[in-house]
Amino acid sequence: EKGGFDHFMLKEIYEQPKAIRDTLAGRIKDGLVDLSQEVGLTAESAKQINKIHFVACGTAYHAGLVGKTVLEQLTRIPVEIDVASEYRYRNPIIDEHTLVVVVSQSGETADTLAALREAKKHGARVLAITNVVGSSVSREADDVIVTWAGPEIAVASTKAYTSQLIAIYLLGMYMAQLLETSVVASIGNLLDELQSLPEKTEEVLGQADKIAEFTKSIVHHEHLFFLGRGMDYAVALEGSLKLKEISYIHSEAYAAGELKHGTLALIEEGIPVISLATQHAVFEKMVSNIQEVKARGAHVLGLASEGDTELLKSVDEVMYIPTIHDLFAPVLAVVPLQLLAYYACVERGYDVDKPRNLAKSVTVE
Ligand code: F6R
Repeated sequence: EKGGFDHFMLKEIYEQPKAIRDTLAGRIKDGLVDLSQEVGLTAESAKQINKIHFVACGTAYHAGLVGKTVLEQLTRIPVEIDVASEYRYRNPIIDEHTLVVVVSQSGETADTLAALREAKKHGARVLAITNVVGSSVSREADDVIVTWAGPEIAVASTKAYTSQLIAIYLLGMYMAQLLETSVVASIGNLLDELQSLPEKTEEVLGQADKIAEFTKSIVHHEHLFFLGRGMDYAVALEGSLKLKEISYIHSEAYAAGELKHGTLALIEEGIPVISLATQHAVFEKMVSNIQEVKARGAHVLGLASEGDTELLKSVDEVMYIPTIHDLFAPVLAVVPLQLLAYYACVERGYDVDKPRNLAKSVTVE
């Protein structure tokens, strides 16, 4: 049942190219995104939306963090994001002009479901991104985009997350088409990039040995840092959660520019710092943040796009992801971090698929 893999998590990491392909399948027609079968928005009703709220928990929340940037860039509608357990109690400002996007692999997370009900009570349109057809969330939402990742068995979410990102990209482009925003002019190019993701994800998986090797340098540490800017920061948070969740190594993800506001004090000789530098608009800024931690003796693994060899000068080791439009880089950037968490867990001898104290679906509040 593990298809030759030692653990479900590893199998699911390797299923990502297929999960991405399946989530894209049938949703791109004649050079445009077509979600008309699943999303009831029309050009008319889309134009009535004046804000978007992402609500989710854990890894799904981290997908929403990427979603905030994606939807703002593509639709130019302001986007807020909350963890569901906060959203439902903070008396958020919701009305019939609000689109609430709930993201949930299982579709059964109690706080997410409660947030959905709260949003509906206030007249919002609720769109669910879920991996389980017929789940509570999918039944109660107005619109549902199913992620076709297939069953996810490992407690640590991997292929569900990348499929959620794909659903978010499709939603963003579809709304851009309905709203006729300026990105529509370049939709063909965006779709080419989006459709290149399965193959490029394969390429990243092809570098698994390199990650396994690097993991040896972190497994004996009790603390480490992930740094990134923009969407790389969102991915850093996901990488940090994954590592904590299964390897029990404590880590913190930081927006790289925030380091000097306190946390730099914790950077000492030998501490591993995983630095994401896939976002071209902030690449130079990221390089200088890396130099700051290097100057304090950190052991830095850099993650950059192929060709951005400049990073080599400032890091100890570097891994490259294939060149891709910045908007889609999170899909490729998260894969090495998933593998890092996986190998760290295996090296430390813990139960990969069933980490302590956690359940796959959190149906209590
Ligand atoms: C982490 C993880 C959890 C879930 C969270 C939400 O690897 O799997 O953080 O993402 O419990 O679950 P769903 O998406 O089912 O609502």
